[in-house]
Amino acid sequence: MTRESDSWQKSKRKFLSIEPMVDNNKNTRSVRPADGLRGTIHLPADKSIAQRTALFAGIAEGTSRIEGYPSSADPQSALSCLRQLGIQIETDEDVLIIHGKGIRGFSPPSEPIDCGNSGTTLRLLSGLLAGQNFRSTLIGDESLSSRPMGRILDPLRQMNARVDSVEGHAPLTVGPASGPLSAIEYTLPVASAQVKSCVLLAGLYADSVTTVIETLPSRDHTERMLGLDTGIQHGKRLVHIRGGMKVEPRNWTIPSDFSAASFFIVAACITPGSVLKMPNVGLNPTRTGLLEVLRAMGARIEIENQREISSEPVGDITVYASQLASVTVTKDIIPSLIDEIPILCVAAIQATGRTEIRGAGELRHKETDRIDAMVKGLGALGAKVEEFEDGLAIEGPQQLHGGHVSAFDDHRIAMSMAISALSASDPVHISGADSVAVSFPEFFRTLDSIRPDPN
Ligand code: S3P
Repeated sequence: MTRESDSWQKSKRKFLSIEPMVDNNKNTRSVRPADGLRGTIHLPADKSIAQRTALFAGIAEGTSRIEGYPSSADPQSALSCLRQLGIQIETDEDVLIIHGKGIRGFSPPSEPIDCGNSGTTLRLLSGLLAGQNFRSTLIGDESLSSRPMGRILDPLRQMNARVDSVEGHAPLTVGPASGPLSAIEYTLPVASAQVKSCVLLAGLYADSVTTVIETLPSRDHTERMLGLDTGIQHGKRLVHIRGGMKVEPRNWTIPSDFSAASFFIVAACITPGSVLKMPNVGLNPTRTGLLEVLRAMGARIEIENQREISSEPVGDITVYASQLASVTVTKDIIPSLIDEIPILCVAAIQATGRTEIRGAGELRHKETDRIDAMVKGLGALGAKVEEFEDGLAIEGPQQLHGGHVSAFDDHRIAMSMAISALSASDPVHISGADSVAVSFPEFFRTLDSIRPDPN
């Protein structure tokens, strides 16, 4: 049993005599309103970084050790895909041990490789498999199979990789490569770290240097973790990778997930009387746009003990309940808070004035259409939300009522709706709430653990 579940057992004992804030009923969870949230919470390891540690360890020349690898579904999908490709993975208490075989060490899989719900695993792995001398098929669940894959197929084809899809969607067939791929210079048409990483990883198998150019910087974990050369030219960001580059095995420690923290950061901001501490959270500036936006809205968020872990900036966050004011969020900052927009909508409901979020059309291509999901979810609780093709606008503050909402089987919608319930007048019942297992299986327990004891 992990330390986190130990502390959950203790907090469960402590709260045994009181009604939980969250009532469990199979895939529907009910969340009651709450006052001041207090405590220190330990968040799961970063999902984006975790999947990369696994994939990069799989192609490293030797054995890597990963501390604190998360039990959530997406990172576990990355591991099961690697196993299907013949990579040996063991655990030693809290440490994952991956025996990498080099960039050409994968074995042909005997069955389609199942990426589950994970876009990161599917898109990054496609880049690695494009250069192998065997053919593989990549599949995913219903949600992943409906997400656009043309965005990786186009550059991979420009590199002369063999790739096929079902009308631009998974299942994808990738490889075999008959020789080295062609190095390209590729300007990303959408700000996407998954596409950037896919092209860079395919670049490992190319005949010279592949360059990816981005107009708006997306998360840079791949560049940091592989130690790639980067530069700025005419205001655009360039990332280079050399074909045939060797990947060294490493000992990785994964910071806590800023995206998981974001739900509790907003929860503490909007719930009067709250003080929440979150130690050891990843603070990569390409991920923390939400901090900038919330601070501009008037949030009191303090960061201490800033340091670096495994090439990533990390710190301890303390958030205080704050009076929020509206803000306008535009295209340039969107990539750095793309996964946090649903929870930002929840903050906007409590902020005074009109918050408008634009340039966020990419949200329609996530695990579900997240613009539609938030408009429907907050609307079902009585909120007025204006919808645009590329975003939404919310006039606050608004008093939400209780009711039934759907998470659309999307973990970030489930968690956002759960946080919105804290300031509703009555309980909110969220169907599809088990989807939190994709990135944060302990989410509802963590939420219960910070509720004040009414005695
Ligand atoms: C991710 C990149 C983002 C993000 C996703 C994880 C990654 O997607 O939404 O949750 O790990 O690279 P896009 O790169 O498609 O925007």
